[in-house]
Amino acid sequence: MLRTKRCGDIDSNITGQTVILTGWLQRTRDLGGLLFLDLRDRYGLVQIVINPDSDRELADSARKISRESVIKIEGLVQPRPPEMINKEMKTGEVEIKPFKIEVLSHCAELPIPFEEIIDAGEELRLKYRYLELRRPGMQKMLEMRHRLAQSVRRFLDDNGFWEVETPFLMRSTPEGARDFLVPSRIYKGRFYALPQSPQTYKQLLMVSGIDRYFQIVKCFRDEDFRADRQPEFTQIDLEMSFIEEEDIFSLVERMMRKICQYLLNVELDIPFPRLTYQDAANQYGCDKPDIRFDLTISDVSDKFTNCGFGIFENALKAGGTVKALPAPELNFSRKQIDGINETARKFGLPGVVVSNWDGETWSNPIGKYIEKNIGAELGKLLLNDSKGAVLFAAGDKVITTSGLGQLRLWLAEEYKIPQKSGLHFLWVTDFPLFERDTEGNIASSHHPFTAPVESDTEMIDSDPLKVRSRAYDLILNGYEIASGSIRIHNRKLQERIFSRLGLSDTEAQEKFGFLLNAFDYGVPPHGGIAFGFDRILMLLSGKNSIREVIPFPKTTSGLSLMDNSPAPVDQKQLEELGISILKKKSK
Ligand code: AMO
Repeated sequence: MLRTKRCGDIDSNITGQTVILTGWLQRTRDLGGLLFLDLRDRYGLVQIVINPDSDRELADSARKISRESVIKIEGLVQPRPPEMINKEMKTGEVEIKPFKIEVLSHCAELPIPFEEIIDAGEELRLKYRYLELRRPGMQKMLEMRHRLAQSVRRFLDDNGFWEVETPFLMRSTPEGARDFLVPSRIYKGRFYALPQSPQTYKQLLMVSGIDRYFQIVKCFRDEDFRADRQPEFTQIDLEMSFIEEEDIFSLVERMMRKICQYLLNVELDIPFPRLTYQDAANQYGCDKPDIRFDLTISDVSDKFTNCGFGIFENALKAGGTVKALPAPELNFSRKQIDGINETARKFGLPGVVVSNWDGETWSNPIGKYIEKNIGAELGKLLLNDSKGAVLFAAGDKVITTSGLGQLRLWLAEEYKIPQKSGLHFLWVTDFPLFERDTEGNIASSHHPFTAPVESDTEMIDSDPLKVRSRAYDLILNGYEIASGSIRIHNRKLQERIFSRLGLSDTEAQEKFGFLLNAFDYGVPPHGGIAFGFDRILMLLSGKNSIREVIPFPKTTSGLSLMDNSPAPVDQKQLEELGISILKKKSK
């Protein structure tokens, strides 16, 4: 038998018993008179004590065992002397007096230390991720990840959802990123794509009458990575039939409440607040506002018409706007204003005009051009009559709001603007159905299966950018944690959208024929949503990168440092697939 108890389960209820324990030797302390070994497994840590005077041989062999070796100990559970009791530890009232110690597996010199306070650098940590996962913080993360998955499954099962698996080898579904492709050996020159999401499959499951589907599923996207993006990540994917937006909102709010109760013992207030996309864009300069601090952007164009201040007047004459971002209680120095401008340029603004308001007057240049009564109105509007500073940006409406939106986040961090603590959820609704892509073509804002608001459908051809969609995003503390929509379930409308996106009938049939054909056979109205599982976990555990909450993540450049992938493959494998690698052109 390899063990009779787990290290963490040893307590005073079993004093006097002989136990067999196995685990990792975390630490050896030689305190002259006594030798202490800390033995650890996933369940806890237990102290082993050897008296070298009475057990010389055992002590000598124990001293030679390296840290983190796997050992097996047979010994007696005995009470600790009163002065050695450690109330902080679950096993702190007892210790083990061993009869026998056996090394099951020797540990070589560790490339990263067990203690998490010693930062080994991300490269080493990822290379030896299996060692990093031994650390208590990482084990806590894995436990939380497991609990999150279980609480989601429990909730959705209780609410009538079936977990259905969908293929990983499929035809590509456009979700805005590049596909990872898998070559077919049998059909040379043909490729599967790894799913960017199970979008089309979950819609087909609604056609099959499944009514309520979910899956905790891996998705694959070949896109630029950031702190909250990985090439493979996990979604909680849902789809429901015979529902409208309110049904999804209510289900999701109840699910988030259950999750937070279970994982954090936190009671969420529901329903969550909502903002339309247009209001989010105008007030926060982005579609995922962090509402933990106020600082909202205002359009103050009407306060500066004919004010004589060239920068503002020219912008207004050219059809632009003047927008203002208040920074209550702050008063910026010349040097700080230079710093703000430098940052503003990084965010696409030519610069910002920064002015301090002392409760009565504006500092220059605003003070010089604004009339006293209008200045007072502005102070009231932007700073509620209290002292503070305001960042003004003039120019194109979209550029100024988006630039101020990014400055808002930067300012909050740089100047430590007080934030509400806790979890702040927000629904963003009424997204536009289309947007222009980087080449100026009409593209879907979400994905092409999103239903338009019915009354806007007549503008699909005449004024596509004005068409609102039935899409919604769920935001948590400034991160998009979920996104979904009510879907198109009518073949004609779906074909019209494909055609508006520039797909010919033949292309639409070739790429999406399976979905379009399915729409001929009785489709329930349906809709759904997908959550970024890793993002939720990152936010609930207070981390700032999803790499910290994924067991085996990739680096920001898409490498797996542990197994060194992506890696070249044998020429033979390539030949079997009918693939030859193009030589890089030398410069
Ligand atoms: P979307 O593409 O918005 O929607 O993805 C849903 C959620 O998945 C998370 N997410 C990511 N997380 C980590 N790394 C990534 N690269 C990454 N990309 C997305 C985000 C996002 O909100 N099929 C639709 C959903 C639907 O309409 O039901 C979809 O996949 O948290």
